[in-house]
Amino acid sequence: MNVCIIGAGYVGLTTAAVLAKLGHTVHCIDENEQKIAALQRGEIPIYEPRLAELFTDHQSRLFSHHDGQKHIQEADVIFICVGTPPDVKGKPDVSYVNRAIDMLIPHVSDHQTLVMKSTVPIGTNERIYERLKNEGKHVRVVSNPEFLREGSAVYDSFHPDRIVIGLRDDDDRSLSVMQTLYAGIHAPYVVTSLSGAEMIKYAANAFLATKISFINEMARLCDTYGVDVVDVAKGIGLDGRIGPHFLQAGIGYGGSCFPKDVTALIQMAYEQMVRPYMLEATKAVNDTQINWYVQKMKRTLGELAGRRIAVLGIAFKPNTDDIRESPAVLLINKLHAHGADVIAHDPKATLPHDVAVKQAKTIDEAVKKADALIVATDWDAYKQLNWEEVKRMMNGNAVIDGRNSLPREAIMNAGLHYIGVGRR
Ligand code: NAD
Ligand code: UGA
Repeated sequence: MNVCIIGAGYVGLTTAAVLAKLGHTVHCIDENEQKIAALQRGEIPIYEPRLAELFTDHQSRLFSHHDGQKHIQEADVIFICVGTPPDVKGKPDVSYVNRAIDMLIPHVSDHQTLVMKSTVPIGTNERIYERLKNEGKHVRVVSNPEFLREGSAVYDSFHPDRIVIGLRDDDDRSLSVMQTLYAGIHAPYVVTSLSGAEMIKYAANAFLATKISFINEMARLCDTYGVDVVDVAKGIGLDGRIGPHFLQAGIGYGGSCFPKDVTALIQMAYEQMVRPYMLEATKAVNDTQINWYVQKMKRTLGELAGRRIAVLGIAFKPNTDDIRESPAVLLINKLHAHGADVIAHDPKATLPHDVAVKQAKTIDEAVKKADALIVATDWDAYKQLNWEEVKRMMNGNAVIDGRNSLPREAIMNAGLHYIGVGRR
């Protein structure tokens, strides 16, 4: 098929690469000229494992344009993958989606299928369908939310747990269009209404975020009772009804989606006069998790002012350079505000310009002479450190595991003091 993708970010580029691998011809269109110029030079503007390789392998079917009217007109399927960041009130800002639709309207025609991959508020796709119809464009609209995780986006796209397709009741063609497009990807289909698919996307992210906040609340309790939260997570996770995933306690969830989507669902509930008690609690635990952890650090280390603290990890999770809503960056800012002498490191991510903290080029540079070391992002490189060597380089002996991901025994055997999240 001939596919156009509007928005060449994490979702757009991954979708493009995967569809090209499946044999389709894909044109990426983005309003960011620098991004398109980079893509045209063969550079992938984000770090995502296997993405660059796929772009190289399938370059004969992958094209990037700043202005792609001709390709929009010739496309069988047009994907919308633009951002939906929160506005000042925490509601999703759909202006990027609206701008993409404004740009598409003059060029689309009735045989085409418009597929929404961006996470949009309930009712958005129905409104887009009506808008197109009012403009005389009888384009089929499909809601096909994306469930990929950054850091494993390519793998997730080839091996999704399910493919959710939202359609209008009178649409008897789009399901087979989507099945043809995704032929080669084996996953159960969930077919529902346009709004049903939108709700599934928000509910999935809200549920996963709730699991994380639940285990973080258990970690707080475990700390007070001297119980190990890792044992608790294992003990409950082996129950098939609960499952082992997303029960890793830490300094909280971040990224461009969980915080934004939980807040968006809360706002949507308020608009309908429904009090979202669970979602409010999920958000409240996450919003207070860093402070709770900094207080715990102060109890262990004493005053933070003047202490040299190495923070390993800047990205919101490993295997990405994305720092949007990163708990690591929040933690760095908090420690800096407490007067600590912070030095940060990350294998791929860069500190934002407004953070007045030094970024080390190597782990050694960060760790040297540190009074305390904190792992804020669970990159493999940090899990595999030589702890005896770390002990020799540090001034102090506190290793603070903000992701419960480090080898506790090895750290303690090296004579270091291990402090996890809800760990004995
Ligand atoms: P992103 O910010 O990485 O990329 C969005 C891209 O769209 C940018 O390059 C931007 O320049 C471009 N853009 C914005 N408006 C445009 C327009 N009118 N015309 C052309 N280009 C335009 O965003 P992302 O992380 O890929 O997320 C996109 C959507 O997918 C969001 O709704 C997000 O919630 C959802 N989502 C993201 C992920 C993820 O892991 N990042 C996973 C699932 C769903
Ligand atoms: C998440 C969802 O997992 C995807 O299914 C979804 O498509 C995506 O949001 C989205 O809508 O954008 P992502 O944000 O890329 O994916 O990464 P996750 O692996 O879900 O991690 C999110 C945050 O939760 C990270 O900060 C991570 O460190 C934290 N986390 C995750 C925990 O604190 N504990 C866990 O057990 C798991």
